[in-house]
Amino acid sequence: MVDPIPFSALETPVPLVDLDRLAANLDRAADYARLHGLSLRPHVKTHKAPCVATEQIQRGAVGLTCATPFEAEVMAAVSGDLLVAYPPVGAPRARRLAALPGHVSLTVALDSARAIDDLHAAARAAGRSVGVLVELDLGMHRVGAQTADDAVALARAVIARPPLAWRGIAFYPGHIRENISSQDAAIAALGAALGSALDAFRRAGLDPDVVSGGSTPTLWRTHEIRGVTEFRPGTYVYNDWTTVNVGACAWTDCALTVLATVVSTAVPGQAVIDAGSKALGREPLRGADGRGFGALLEHPEVAVASMSEEHGILDLSRSSWRPEVGDLVRVVPNHACIVTHLHDLVYGVRDYNVETSWPVVARGRGQQALV
Ligand SMILES: Cc1ncc(COP(=O)(O)O)c(C=O)c1O
Repeated sequence: MVDPIPFSALETPVPLVDLDRLAANLDRAADYARLHGLSLRPHVKTHKAPCVATEQIQRGAVGLTCATPFEAEVMAAVSGDLLVAYPPVGAPRARRLAALPGHVSLTVALDSARAIDDLHAAARAAGRSVGVLVELDLGMHRVGAQTADDAVALARAVIARPPLAWRGIAFYPGHIRENISSQDAAIAALGAALGSALDAFRRAGLDPDVVSGGSTPTLWRTHEIRGVTEFRPGTYVYNDWTTVNVGACAWTDCALTVLATVVSTAVPGQAVIDAGSKALGREPLRGADGRGFGALLEHPEVAVASMSEEHGILDLSRSSWRPEVGDLVRVVPNHACIVTHLHDLVYGVRDYNVETSWPVVARGRGQQALV
């Protein structure tokens, strides 16, 4: 905690996190998990910061989900229970995972014999047990075994390869992007697909301890998917315009914004800010209101309509607000996780004051340069 300073003391563009909104978002998901007896294992890709992960664990998260070896290395400092929800393919990646500190209970999700081979070789060389979740494709069509029989065969292959230990199954419902009020059919289809996969596992004499799924758009409906034991939302900590659009949060739940300065109003009908694609990311907005790359927190009718690398063009056509050169604005991004990944430091704010800051420690890949 530093003496509060005004936003005007910061060099822009820079990400701000509203500390009260962050706390409320963390509380809401933790309360939901408790209410429904679900284990919350948040995905750290959204914040990549050990201090936020610590807040999640203090509120009851059973462990953390990571995508990259570097995220896992960084988060090993604050959690002894990590799931890497990404195929451990390739000896360098598998070796790096197996080299995580010994106090970490490590579980990895995979969907191929090759991944089992690579993880097995690395785990045996490192002399450590590694848990495995077999990934199932339940509709996203990104990764995951295509049939329950294929998934059962992978589980059997894991069981035959100690020090790997089969723990259960994983899936990611990233294909469910409709508004939460229109998700009934998709949630029912997901539940049916999961149910028949679980039946196949039980018929094969295999009972998964862990059934891991979950995303932010489906967060509040996780309890409706029978069989799920843990869920892995990531975006919920900060939320973003996409999450507002799918109805999984309110505009006032968006904790992450990019503070930017109006640098030009020379061209009529628009204003230019110093946050372009290198500050906001060029992520299209999914859903009904797809009209730009972010919108202003205090003027949601004003979108970042187009961008260069260091310029964001505000479309003023729907607004009576007319900014002046030098004004500060806060942009709610389309995708919070991309903004995190683009910045070294985040400032924690309350009202119009900056109270703290933290580094985005797990940003990048953490690879060593050749010497
Ligand atoms: C495997 C996996 N699990 C969980 C999540 C978190 O989902 P969300 O970003 O909707 O919070 C993601 C997001 O990309 C993911 O890829």
